Amino acid sequence: MADLDKPTETKDFHLDIQQRSEAFFLKGSNCLDWGMKNRLARIFNAQSGKTVMLAIDHGYFQGPTTGLERVDVNIVPLLPHADTLMLTRGILRSVIPPSYTRGIVLRASGGPSILKELSNEQIAMDIEDVLRLNAAAMAVQVFIGGEHETQSVHNMTRLVDIGNRYGLPTLAVTAVGRDMVRDAKYMRLACRICAELGASYVKTYYVDEGFQTVTASCPVPIVIAGGKKLPELEALRMAYNAIDQGALGVDMGRNIFQAESPALMAQAVRKVVHEGEKPEHAYDFYRSAKVEVAVA
Ligand code: 5RP
Repeated sequence: MADLDKPTETKDFHLDIQQRSEAFFLKGSNCLDWGMKNRLARIFNAQSGKTVMLAIDHGYFQGPTTGLERVDVNIVPLLPHADTLMLTRGILRSVIPPSYTRGIVLRASGGPSILKELSNEQIAMDIEDVLRLNAAAMAVQVFIGGEHETQSVHNMTRLVDIGNRYGLPTLAVTAVGRDMVRDAKYMRLACRICAELGASYVKTYYVDEGFQTVTASCPVPIVIAGGKKLPELEALRMAYNAIDQGALGVDMGRNIFQAESPALMAQAVRKVVHEGEKPEHAYDFYRSAKVEVAVA
């Protein structure tokens, strides 16, 4: 029943408190619409401002990658340790429990396999299916300098336009061809092009020299890919250095799921990314927890 009988005077309008208008915590994202911000907040932790994305989408062009042969067995137990999962709709629907409520970043481009020219991708998802799957963002590969550079940039801009219509962020993934130099100059170029053309955030590779110029010149958040499997301490050092130089997270795959103890590695990466822990300390945690697990 409507509350009609209480006089207005008994209500407390907190006339002495001004309504607050807070800036959104994420770099370059303050002017986005509410739904877009809300989805980004399902990817980036609002307290730390960072994210640990677990990337398991490798099968979309290279089939059953080592560590991903059985996502149900090897990856599902890692879900509590990731802020966000980056994957294909095929794996999401077939294997990931719908009770998983954190951010989903859906691989939305594809086409060629490792047997063909990888830059020849097209958009591989319909926006309706992205929304149906309740994704937090779409990911698209961008091949700056690649054979199909323009096509891949157009894939991204089309997804950005569609995403903007529905409040869905687009993650641009900068793919570096085998014969290209992976240096800060290339990463600056690739990341800036993606941001200028509308990507909500950009994934790139860490480079030892001048990475801070890559993050400084990219007006939206950057997360780093893990790349090929490294010894655990080296991978933690890379994550630490990237965060220290302005990255807002990692989108790590092989360095987590190919580690000897993937769940512990995911936790060690979290310590570095969210708590700013030194890589050596996070590695100590990894090693001693591994010993404890072995003894138990
Ligand atoms: C493939 C991708 C992968 O998600 C990306 O490479 C992350 O995985 P890894 O840390 O194993 O490099 O975008 O194109």
